[in-house]
Parts: sequence; C-alpha cells; structure tokens
Amino acid sequence: MRIVLVGPPGAGKGTQATRLAEQLRVPHISTGDLFRANISRQTELGKLAKSYMDAGNLVPDEVTIAMAKDRMEQPDAEGGFLLDGFPRNVSQAEALDELLTTEGMKLDAVLDLEAPEEEVVKRIAGRRICRNDSAHVFHETYKQPAKAGVCDVCGGELYQRDDDSEDTVRKRLEVYHTQTEPIIDYYKAQGLVVTISALGPVDEVTKRALEALKRED
Ligand code: AP5
Ligand code: ZN
Repeated sequence: MRIVLVGPPGAGKGTQATRLAEQLRVPHISTGDLFRANISRQTELGKLAKSYMDAGNLVPDEVTIAMAKDRMEQPDAEGGFLLDGFPRNVSQAEALDELLTTEGMKLDAVLDLEAPEEEVVKRIAGRRICRNDSAHVFHETYKQPAKAGVCDVCGGELYQRDDDSEDTVRKRLEVYHTQTEPIIDYYKAQGLVVTISALGPVDEVTKRALEALKRED
C-alpha cells in the first residue's frame, strides 16, 4: 500500500506511522526524521534544514522533494510506503503525483489524523525523543519510559526537540493551517482522504486507522 499520513504537529503521526508500517509491512518514511538524522550527522543538508526547522518553517521544496524521492526509490519501498510529513504543501503533493505517475504507481489513501489544538499542544509539550533515533518517541505523562530520561528501545538519552518550544509550536501550527491543510482538499478531489480522530489511547487510534484503511482497500 502507498499511504500518506497528514495531521497537525503533535497529532501522533510518527507514533501511528511506526505501528501502521509494521502492520502493513511497508517502510515508514518521515521527512522530519530524515532531516533530524542529517542534523545529528552534521551534513550540509542537516545544517540547512535546521535553520528552517528551528523557526517552525518548512524546509525549501527543492531539497525536501529530492530527499523524499531518493528515499522512496530505495529497494525496501518498492512494494509500498507510509509517508509521514510529506507532502506538506500543494507543490510537494504535485511533485509526488508526478513521480508516482512516471513510475506507473498511485496512492491508495491519505489518512488524515484529526486532533484539536489544545490536545496537540499538550502532546508536544510533554514529548521526549531519543538522541540516537528521533523515531523513538516518548511522553512525560502519556508514554513514560521504564527508566526516566532513557530510551526503552536503544538506551539512548531522551531530550526535548529544539522545535518543540512554545513559540515554534505556534508557528508550526500556523504553517500547518496555511500550507499543509490545503493538500487535504487536493487529495479529496482525488477521492483519497480518510479522516479519523486522533484522540484516545494509542492502541485505539491504531485500530481505528487500520479499520478505516481496510474500508479503502
Ligand atoms: P515533523 O518531524 O514532521 O513534525 P510535525 O509534523 O510537526 O509532527 P510532529 O513530529 O511534531 O508530531 P507527530 O504528529 O509525529 O506526533 P508524535 O507521534 O511525535 O517536521 C518537523 C519539521 O521538519 C517541520 O516543521 C519542517 O521544518 C521540517 N519538515 C518535515 N517535513 C517537511 C516537508 N515535507 N517539507 C518541508 N519541511 C519539512 O506524538 C506527539 C507526542 O504525543 C508524543 O510524545 C507521543 O508519545 C504522544 N502521543 C501520540 N499519540 C498519543 C495518544 N493517542 N495519546 C496520548 N499521547 C500520544
Ligand atoms: Zn532510542
């Protein structure tokens, strides 16, 4: 299956994508995680991305699309993928369509995770991620690690993301409404959007997502 996950920052896209990718046996491709991996390796791409991410802005399309394309062309993504955080504006969605059409492929569904602003703000405020891999995600209250400050998966140190400060979160929400939300209408016109509530326990949201995707099959 080829799926796009969309939803406001902190809705739980990364959390759900990890679980859904496992169930659906496709790789989880997160442009946010790819940028963060570049930042920790201190690559040129990482340095460029960090300046935009820390301000809560989108990284320019040209580099983002090239990075996403490169990842989607890896052998493990041949049979499908779950895109998390890409596309994030209409021109990225158009670029993805073009890429898929060239390869004779198409998307199966766009899963839209809906969550009210006060909930995503709480989720982001308590989020802690792992220094070794930003896909290892915890929460001070909702998903505590067995040992405080230590990643359950790999033993890495947990910390708060640089772009999770209150001001940057406000900016990211604004960018979501103005630049990312329009892709929902773009995909609605293609009949691909499935909307579910992101509220409730993580397991319940996963169940809801799998049922919604099954109906699309
Ligand atoms: P990115 O990393 O994609 O961040 P985001 O979209 O802002 O989303 P988040 O990672 O903040 O949240 P999430 O929805 O994944 O929630 P999570 O599962 O962690 O992007 C970061 C930046 O990179 C962008 O601002 C931009 O600069 C750049 N970028 C990335 N892609 C780009 C692109 N395509 N183009 C241009 N720029 C791009 O959950 C949040 C917390 O809540 C966690 O602590 C979790 O444990 C907890 N939680 C999850 N589910 C539940 C639940 N059901 N109940 C209680 N708690 C829960
Ligand atoms: Zn870890």
